[in-house]
Amino acid sequence: MSKKTAIVTGCAGFIGSHLVEFLVKKNYNVIGLDNLSTGYKKFLQNIDRNSFKFHKVDLLKDNIDKYFKNVSEIFHLSANADVRYGIKYRNKDLQQNTIVTHKILEQCVKNKIKKFIFSSTGSIYGESKEIPTKENCAFPIQTSLYGASKLSAEALISAYAEAFDLKCYIFRFVSILGPRYSHGHVFDFIKKLKQNPKKLNVLGNGNQKKSYLHVIDCIEAIWKSKNFFQKKVNIINLGTNEYITVKKSIRIITKKLRLKPKLFFSGGKRGWIGDNPFIFLDTKKVKSTGWKPNLTIEKSVENTVEYLISNKWILKKK
Ligand SMILES: NC(=O)c1ccc[n+]([C@@H]2O[C@H](COP(=O)([O-])OP(=O)(O)OC[C@H]3O[C@@H](n4cnc5c(N)ncnc54)[C@H](O)[C@@H]3O)[C@@H](O)[C@H]2O)c1
Repeated sequence: MSKKTAIVTGCAGFIGSHLVEFLVKKNYNVIGLDNLSTGYKKFLQNIDRNSFKFHKVDLLKDNIDKYFKNVSEIFHLSANADVRYGIKYRNKDLQQNTIVTHKILEQCVKNKIKKFIFSSTGSIYGESKEIPTKENCAFPIQTSLYGASKLSAEALISAYAEAFDLKCYIFRFVSILGPRYSHGHVFDFIKKLKQNPKKLNVLGNGNQKKSYLHVIDCIEAIWKSKNFFQKKVNIINLGTNEYITVKKSIRIITKKLRLKPKLFFSGGKRGWIGDNPFIFLDTKKVKSTGWKPNLTIEKSVENTVEYLISNKWILKKK
C-alpha cells in the first residue's frame, strides 16, 4: 500500500514533534511546517529524514501554496499556545490561531484534502457550570482571547467540513505534560525554583483544580479517535478522569526536586484573567474508542519534572 502523506503544522513544538514521530512510525510521509517561534529543531533530530521533511515557514505571513499538494491529512497544531498574555498582545491569538486556521482550511479546499485534525482546548469551555464538562455542554461564555480564538477556529473548521468534502476532528485538550514540555505551570515553577530554591510565588490561591494528560496518551487518543469516529464533524474532549489542585502539583514537583520552598500565594480564585479555577472534562466519548490513559496525573507531572531537570537548556527559553 502506498504511504499516506500528512502535514503537521507546529511540528517543532512540544506536541507536534511527538506527533511527527508517531506518524512516521505509522508509516506516513510527513511534511512538517513550523516557524520555530516557540518550537525547536532539536526536537526533530531523531526522526527518519526518508519519511519526514521539515520546512521553516511562517504560516501567517508566508505564501504556503507549494506545501499542500498530494496531501491526504492535515494535523493543524501551530498556534500561540500561551493563554496568559492574550490581554497584553490582543492581536496574537486572533492572527495565529484563527486567521492561520482559515488559511490552512483554504488549502484543504484548493487541494481537495479530506481530513483536518485540529488541536483545540478545554479553555473554550470558559468557566463551565457543568463539571465534568461534556462536548455538548451549554454554549460557553469565553473568558480568554486564546479560548475565543480557538472556538472561532472550531467554528470555521466545522463550517468548511459541512460545505466541502472534508472530515474534521476537533480535539479539546486539557493541559498536556511530558517530555519536551516547554510552557505551562510545571515549567514556570521549576524556572522560578532554579532562580530561588527557597521561595515560590504562586499565582492565585493554589486551590485551582486542573486536569492534565501525558503527551503520549494524548497522541494515542488522537490516533484512535481519528480511526473510530466517522462523522463529518467530530468533536472530542481529551483528558483523564482525575484532576489535582495547584498546591498538590507543587508538592509533587518540590518532592521530586527535593526542595522545601516557602510558598507565597498572590490570592484569589484565578491566577490571571482567563485562568479557569476548575478544568475537568468529561472523557466518555474518547473512552468509547477503547482508549484509556496509561499515566496518572502524578506520574505525568513527575515525568515532566524529570525531563526539565535533564534538559535545563529549555528553561532558558527564547
Ligand atoms: N500544551 C498544552 O497543554 C495544550 C493544551 C491545549 C491545546 N494545546 C494546543 O496544542 C497545539 C500544540 O501546542 P504545544 O503545547 O505543542 O505548543 P508549542 O508552542 O510547543 O507548539 C506550537 C508550534 O507552532 C509553531 N508556530 C507558531 N506560530 C506559527 C506560525 N505562524 N507559523 C509556523 N509555525 C508556528 C511554534 O514554533 C511551535 O513549534 C496548539 O495548537 C495548542 O493551542 C496545547
